[in-house]
Amino acid sequence: MGSMVDPFGRQIEYLRVSVTDRCDFRCTYCMAEDMTFLPKRDLLSLEELDRLCTAFVEKGVRKLRLTGGEPLVRKNVMHLIRGLGRHLETGALDELTLTTNGSQLARFADELADCGVRRINVSLDTLDPEKFRTITRWGNLAKVNAGLDAAQRAGLKIKINTVALKGFNEDEISDIMRWAHGRSMDLTLIETMPMGEIDADRTDQYLPLSLMRAQLERQFTLTDIPYKTGGPARYVDVAETGGRLGFITPMTHNFCESCNRVRLTCTGTLYMCLGQEDAADLRAPLRASEGDVLLDRAIDEAISRKPKGHDFIIDRRTSRPSVSRHMSVTGG
Ligand code: GTP
Ligand code: 5AD
Ligand code: SF4
Repeated sequence: MGSMVDPFGRQIEYLRVSVTDRCDFRCTYCMAEDMTFLPKRDLLSLEELDRLCTAFVEKGVRKLRLTGGEPLVRKNVMHLIRGLGRHLETGALDELTLTTNGSQLARFADELADCGVRRINVSLDTLDPEKFRTITRWGNLAKVNAGLDAAQRAGLKIKINTVALKGFNEDEISDIMRWAHGRSMDLTLIETMPMGEIDADRTDQYLPLSLMRAQLERQFTLTDIPYKTGGPARYVDVAETGGRLGFITPMTHNFCESCNRVRLTCTGTLYMCLGQEDAADLRAPLRASEGDVLLDRAIDEAISRKPKGHDFIIDRRTSRPSVSRHMSVTGG
């Protein structure tokens, strides 16, 4: 197995793959209502995605996460997941997982578990069905809940991702935490990042998690713990619930110094940082020959350009997003 090290000495072991930019929700902080998606002919085939992922695994990636848009709306995605499961069996990969909105989980949970998936992250920002409809525009909370039930029955561990939004769910965070921990699920809170044009004003939505943490500490005893999942969350134990709470703080505490990941889109574009525009095209070298020599070279060249970090800002004076592409291009 190879290993990829970037110019700042960071080992790249985590590949996030957006298998589609489409989604059956339209979360207001993520997408505009009226989004233009990629034409289907621009997508890599599932076989090409497998070949790309496999090239990364051979170069030292130990953790693969499928994202979207919504990964489970890509046609025949289970075929890809089953194929990638072979790298778990050989021991080349430690974890194969996905980040999903949960809408299709009732259908796919058993099969996911059967493919070797052990843990999934499910995005959920409110427990109120009406508010859920408002924030996702198109989502149905009952369906997501049925998906969570199915996933737990299938033995999948679940982490709930909640984007902290001022004036929307800040008063609900402690309830969401009690609910998640009561069902033996971890919870991570995420600061909203300025990516892509949306219909709302991000300065109205942004809620620093340093504030949220202080607020929670009035009710709960939070103890920092060294638990790590390979992602950017920093975790605490919550004495009152016995559960784990994570904070993802790209805005208030930049975690770029320990970044171990790169992101691949469904068109074969590699983004070396979530918060930068620079990208490398891997589709051309992939399609240029059947062997992986050109592809390997293109990956090495891309990793050698991985930037030190992002420069996200949310500010009233800058109405444009720091990064013009939407989160759904790379799935976070
Ligand atoms: P775990 O395996 O559970 O640690 O997952 P994860 O946190 O790596 O993945 P998940 O898909 O749950 O991501 C949660 C949030 O973290 C998403 O909103 C991502 O956009 C954000 N995130 C993940 N990696 C980065 C990163 O490198 N930079 C920034 N700014 N945000 C990130
Ligand atoms: N800022 C922070 N998180 C976001 N997500 C989507 N858009 C944004 C944003 N602008 C979250 C989703 C999901 C994860 C992949 O990214 O809610 O949990
Ligand atoms: Fe879809 Fe996730 Fe974006 Fe919501 S946050 S619109 S579920 S991709």
